Parts: sequence; C-alpha cells; structure tokens
Amino acid sequence: MSYRPSLTMQEPLPQFQAWLRDAHDRRLAEPTAMSLATVDPQGQPAVRMVLLKHADEAGFVFYTNLESDKGRQLAASPFAELCFYWNPPGRQVRVHGGVEPVTAEEADAYFASRAYKSRIGAWASQQSRPLESQTKLAAAVARVAIKHPHHVPRPPHWSGFRVVPQWIEFWEERPFRLHDRFRWERTADGAWVAQRLFP
Ligand SMILES: Cc1cc2nc3c(=O)[nH]c(=O)nc-3n(C[C@H](O)[C@H](O)[C@H](O)COP(=O)(O)O)c2cc1C
Repeated sequence: MSYRPSLTMQEPLPQFQAWLRDAHDRRLAEPTAMSLATVDPQGQPAVRMVLLKHADEAGFVFYTNLESDKGRQLAASPFAELCFYWNPPGRQVRVHGGVEPVTAEEADAYFASRAYKSRIGAWASQQSRPLESQTKLAAAVARVAIKHPHHVPRPPHWSGFRVVPQWIEFWEERPFRLHDRFRWERTADGAWVAQRLFP
C-alpha cells in the first residue's frame, strides 16, 4: 500500500502499520519507541519514552510498572498522548485518547514472552522510587532470582495500558517546512473522519 497519507482511506491504522513497517525496513533504531505524555494530579504534564508492544483497531499497548509515576498518573487520569518520530524519512505520528488497562491474560502472555532477566527485573525494580545505589538493585535482582530460579510469575504491579485513540495525526516532512499533515478523528458512531491540517 502507499506510504502517502490519503483522505480516501477509511481508517488510520493501515497507514500507521505501513509507516512502522517502513521504519523497521529502514533498520532505524527503536522503531517502536514512543513518547508517552500523561497528566499528574496537579494538572502538570509528564513525558517519557516507552515501547509499543501491540497496535490494532482496539488501541496502542505498552507495558510498565503500575506503581511508577506514569502508572499512578494513568490510574488517576486515564488519558494520554503518544508520539512516534522516524527519521529518515521524517515522519511523526501522534495518538491521542483515553487509556484502559489491558486484560490479565494479555499481560500474562506478554510477560511470559520476555527474557528471564527482564522478568526478574520487573520484580526487583520499584520503578520511579528512590534507589540508594546500583548495588542495592543488583542485590534485589539476586534475591528475586533465588526465589524464582525458573518460572517467574507476573508481578501484580506490572501490566499494560492501551491507549484507545480519539484521534491520530500523521505528519510527513516536506521541503521548506510545507509539511503534509493529516488528522483522523473518531466520530460518535465510531467511524473515522480525516482532514488535512496546515503544517
Ligand atoms: C527507548 C526507551 C524505551 C523505554 N520503554 C519503556 C517501557 O516500555 N516501559 C517502561 O515502563 N519504561 C520504559 N522506558 C523507561 C521510561 O522512559 C521511564 O524512565 C520509566 O518508565 C519511569 O517513568 P515514570 O517515572 O514516568 O513512570 C523506556 C525508556 C527509553 C529511553
């Protein structure tokens, strides 16, 4: 399919998948890396990178520690924006919407697919809390590894979130900053409507 955004398309996901595939094909570093913006209890923005683990019509999924800053922020205010940037060819995708937890089955299946040491790390890291030293982290890792030498169950504080897009915007670089910009918005009946925006 064409990599060019088009107003004749029915929905935005195939466009996103095509651009992501293109980023993989170009062997870009971390094509699935995306910034995740959340809102803290004071209404202040917070942003950091996470990795996209799954995307389909239902939404965009990433995994994290539920007790991290982002986990707590999303529990209190379940709205987020994601932003991908791939260069070359100079493309940005923004995904804006509500956030819901993934099911326990989805989280279990993804957790089981992770490397043993990553699974151990999920138990050992109290993400976003103060850490006295790297030695303390290594000790926590060693303790968890002794407890779970083979099978590592998914920690109760580790799971995923799905950003359910309300709108998705595609931006492609053009000469002299006359970039091409399209936004797909979901209407009340669930259909997608696209419009071009000034860059
Ligand atoms: C490229 C990249 C990918 C990352 N992916 C994840 C991820 O998928 N999940 C995660 O919890 N943290 C990930 N991190 C770490 C986060 O950016 C962040 O430091 C951490 O989750 C704590 O964020 P918080 O204190 O806002 O909750 C990633 C960092 C980078 C640079």
